[in-house]
Amino acid sequence: MNGHSAGVRAEHFTDRVAVITGALGEIGLETAEELARRGATVWAADIGFSPSEPSRPVGAGIIHPVNLDVTDSHAVDSLFRSITSASGPISMLVNAAGGPGTDRSPVEDVTDAQWKKVVSLNLDGTFYCCRAAVKSMKSGGIGGSIVNISSGAGRTYSRTGVQAYAAAKAGVIGLTRQLAREMGTYGVRVNCVAPGLIAVEGLAQELSSISSGAMQTHLSGVALGRLGSAADLVGPIVFFLGPQAGYVTGQTISVDGGSTMLG
Ligand SMILES: NC(=O)c1ccc[n+]([C@@H]2O[C@H](COP(=O)([O-])OP(=O)(O)OC[C@H]3O[C@@H](n4cnc5c(N)ncnc54)[C@H](O)[C@@H]3O)[C@@H](O)[C@H]2O)c1
Repeated sequence: MNGHSAGVRAEHFTDRVAVITGALGEIGLETAEELARRGATVWAADIGFSPSEPSRPVGAGIIHPVNLDVTDSHAVDSLFRSITSASGPISMLVNAAGGPGTDRSPVEDVTDAQWKKVVSLNLDGTFYCCRAAVKSMKSGGIGGSIVNISSGAGRTYSRTGVQAYAAAKAGVIGLTRQLAREMGTYGVRVNCVAPGLIAVEGLAQELSSISSGAMQTHLSGVALGRLGSAADLVGPIVFFLGPQAGYVTGQTISVDGGSTMLG
């Protein structure tokens, strides 16, 4: 015995290049920091970063914050090319940019613009980043691992009634399976995480508007009886990225405290 069980050993990502989108959000940020602590060069992309954000060392790695709108396919292609030139082939991608937006309407009142905005962010943006990352991964010939972020809404339905969000997040699961099939022979694995209700800062307003009765009803449907935290997502994401998941691809795992139990 060397004192470490396989279950607790921290995999190292030294010299590996990662891109995390939505990296100003709690889930993206915690993931970016964990990968950097494990030695990765992390390009943290978010529409909220200023163009002159300084890089910062974290643990054995480094985080380079970059401004990116994932719905702009030219900007995505250009950034992924620049990252590959600067740091070498990308071998890890986490698509965490996303969200349901603030519009909630009965389906007959949903405008084209409302629909397209949510689908564009959650599905088109994920596709653009996967496509750009795959080019870098194939050119490097070193394989890679992609983790997409869906939602319980993509496995069942949107509890807050956002039709485009449920549709786009279900699309992310389909895209994950399709790319896993296509990319397997190149050593690229593609998996997906479907969070339940995660208490991040961006949801504070929404959470505070939920009555305590409605919250109790929600929690009674969660086997573990609590809301999730961003930290709850990091382990499953890192698992999918790392070698312990080396024979796992095309899978979606719910990280929702046991609200959705499929299979
Ligand atoms: N928090 C939850 O309860 C929950 C539940 C299920 C799924 N998710 C998913 O998890 C992912 C992360 O969400 P979060 O909870 O950390 O939310 P968040 O709102 O804190 O983070 C999302 C980030 O995406 C960024 N972003 C928005 N539009 C962008 C664009 N066009 N280009 C680039 N970046 C953009 C935002 O600036 C923000 O920093 C999202 O895909 C979300 O749909 C979250």
